[in-house]
Amino acid sequence: MGVKGMPESFHPALLVCPTLVGRTSDLAALHALVDQAQSGQGYVALLRGEAGIGKSRLVAETKAFAAGLDFLLLQGNCFRSDRFFPYAPLLDLLRAYISTHAATAARELKPLAPA
Ligand SMILES: Nc1ncnc2c1ncn2[C@@H]1O[C@H](COP(=O)(O)OP(=O)(O)O)[C@@H](O)[C@H]1O
Ligand SMILES: [Mg+2]
Repeated sequence: MGVKGMPESFHPALLVCPTLVGRTSDLAALHALVDQAQSGQGYVALLRGEAGIGKSRLVAETKAFAAGLDFLLLQGNCFRSDRFFPYAPLLDLLRAYISTHAATAARELKPLAPA
């Protein structure tokens, strides 16, 4: 994808600042949650703020940290139209996981199915 008025080699992804600025305490808090998840205590973290404030970037940084600890990273998305379906992100996550890891998913999820 090119950007009007910019050289063909330019790509918007190059605009990402490689250094995370001013988020030391937020990142430390999220890293602590990942560490606790690794020791068996899971948590939910809610990030909120106006568009462009850095929510997705914090998630990406946290995912990179977790990937370095060998976590299986799964992502479920939902949109405004899903607001009446509280499990929509979980369903999205499971659909994506099952479609890419069918055999593993069947083995791991089977014990959770009702008898
Ligand atoms: N703390 C930060 N330091 C450097 N760049 C940042 C920081 N937070 C966000 N950015 C950059 O700003 C842009 C918008 O951030 P993004 O995470 O997409 O915002 P949001 O998800 O809240 O809308 C992205 O290019 C992101 O990499
Ligand atoms: Mg975002």
